[in-house]
Amino acid sequence: MPLDIIIGTQWGDEGKGRFVDLLSRNAQIVARFNGGDNAGHTVTVERQIFKLHLIPSGIIHSGTINLMGNGMVIHPGSLLDEMKMLSDGGVDVTPKRLFISYAAHIITPAHRAIDKAMESVRGSGLLGTTGRGIGPAYTDKTARQGLRMIDLLDPENLMDNLDDHIRKANKTLESCQVAPLDIREIQEQYRVYSQKLAPFIADTSRIASDALYHGDTVLAEGAQGSLLDVDMGTYPYVTSSSCTSAGVLSGLGIGAYPARRVIGITKAFQTRVGSGPFPTEQSGQIALQLRGTGANPWDEYGTTTGRARRVGWLDSVLLRYAARINGLTKLAITKLDVLQGLDELYICTAYQKGNQIYTELPFGLSNLESYSPVYTRLPGWKSVDITGARTWGDLPAEAQRYIEAIVEFGGVPVHWISVGAERDQVIRMES
Ligand code: GDP
Ligand code: IMO
Ligand code: MG
Repeated sequence: MPLDIIIGTQWGDEGKGRFVDLLSRNAQIVARFNGGDNAGHTVTVERQIFKLHLIPSGIIHSGTINLMGNGMVIHPGSLLDEMKMLSDGGVDVTPKRLFISYAAHIITPAHRAIDKAMESVRGSGLLGTTGRGIGPAYTDKTARQGLRMIDLLDPENLMDNLDDHIRKANKTLESCQVAPLDIREIQEQYRVYSQKLAPFIADTSRIASDALYHGDTVLAEGAQGSLLDVDMGTYPYVTSSSCTSAGVLSGLGIGAYPARRVIGITKAFQTRVGSGPFPTEQSGQIALQLRGTGANPWDEYGTTTGRARRVGWLDSVLLRYAARINGLTKLAITKLDVLQGLDELYICTAYQKGNQIYTELPFGLSNLESYSPVYTRLPGWKSVDITGARTWGDLPAEAQRYIEAIVEFGGVPVHWISVGAERDQVIRMES
């Protein structure tokens, strides 16, 4: 029953999509279990760039079955756009290989409008959400008043539920001084979505469970990152879903099978989009080098919103935390190539508050802003180009030392190192 799990160890955008693509070669099923189109997962195949927000990144490999689990929140319009984008790019997206859980929740224009309205009400204390309606959709889910994908199979009932839902939402919007939404227009839109998406709706829990029972490999594709998890992240600056390995079971509706591998994707430095604490954040020249100017497709500008990402040094206190809460068995390090050109590199190994040094935090990620990072300094490999490296031996000694330091401070073995966005720009370690 091989269950492999891919999880972001930071605040998202670690390069999960490219590793899901890599590991999809040997998986029968690839499944998203959390989040919605707040995610943006990039897969680059011979310069063809696919940006996936909802559909599992495994879809690019023709041999896979792809599941969108019950833990997801799905905007039908975004999903149809993504299906078209993939079909136009030559990817087969049919009900034979894409299955959407009947129990996944639906995002409506009301969720999106409320997401944006709540952010404007928050003023300077805004969370910096993606505006995709994620929080309001999960709020409706836990309040037991959400709309689910199964509702698309009964359009007449859906029209009534939508009427009720939008009416309620309009009251909220009115209180935020936002114009009400047109119920008729939305009903018409969702009637079309019903027709188009009905053939894809299925019992994905059963498909995943049967596959595991029969010995097929299921690859669970995490969205967002451990530090954005609603329970274990930098609350309240988090998303509204379970982004850790714990979310896989509930988000796919499978039993507590032991995972074969829990793979943590870790960027060689740290990034964050939106508000919230970021102890190792950098500005000035270092930030420019880490972020890039936007000239390269992999520069640090959001895949979903285009926002410039905040950047900083790798934080191994947070990496150890992510390793613990996920039970990570292996790490994949991404974007090592981006560090080339820097004379010196820093890794945060502990935090300091007053005279006290902390290698673990007393209350998880609470009050993170009150700690300052303690760094270890390592030499860079300056201008040596590592994008062509394919074996450990191809890396300069300084790059090897940097990876060894991540293993030492992070406490998890590194199994892959990626040195570019292309499928083949990967070093596989012999461990
Ligand atoms: P995800 O959300 O975790 O899937 O990550 P994103 O796709 O949002 O962001 C990662 C970005 O880095 C994408 O543009 C990837 O194509 C790119 N990328 C992934 N691995 C590497 C790498 O090793 N080097 C470089 N330069 N880019 C990478
Ligand atoms: P992937 O899967 C990076 C961030 C938002 C915001 C916070 C809450 O591509 O790694 P939300 O819209 O979810 O309510 O926003 O979470 N966020 C992400 N940051 N990568 C993501 O996904 C993210 N999904 C949400 O920027 O700070
Ligand atoms: Mg992303």
